[in-house]
Amino acid sequence: MTVATVLPHVNAVLNTLSTILILIAFVFIRSGNREMHRKFMLAAIIVSAVFLVSYLTYHFYAPIFVFPGKGWTVPAYYTLLISHVILAVVVTPMVGITAWRALHGAFDRHKAIARWTFPIWLYVTVTGVAIYAILYHVYPPSA
Ligand code: HEM
Repeated sequence: MTVATVLPHVNAVLNTLSTILILIAFVFIRSGNREMHRKFMLAAIIVSAVFLVSYLTYHFYAPIFVFPGKGWTVPAYYTLLISHVILAVVVTPMVGITAWRALHGAFDRHKAIARWTFPIWLYVTVTGVAIYAILYHVYPPSA
């Protein structure tokens, strides 16, 4: 068991946890509970920050994966992967700006950017788990 074999599973758990926290935070703001929305979004940010450190550590030790699928699964997989990576880069500063505006009481401006941050962040965490499931369970490395 090495860092490179354990961390992908840790990362998937952190990604799943982020998805759940973001969804719960969204349900809270929709039902008007600002305090619980704040708590769950801040928890999601902390979990995502831990994920980012773990993810970068993993890529320091591990090689880049070559997708082993055939036929239509190849463009489908790379479309998923590339959209995930691009949006992950885009959403990282957006999460910071969204939280910053809320923490400084600029709720109109918070809401304006949050309408974009929320669905993009959700897409990034869900596709992160999907990519993990494809690479480690649909096409397990030993196969
Ligand atoms: C980056 C993390 C965050 C995201 C993605 C996010 C997302 C959202 C979304 C999508 C809405 C609009 C919901 C709707 O359309 O009804 C919203 C509203 C709101 N958020 Fe956040 N939020 C975040 C962090 C925070 C934090 C840290 C706080 C508290 C300090 C906060 C306080 C609020 C409040 C008070 C509203 C209601 C604004 C209003 O109706 O005028 N949010 N947020």
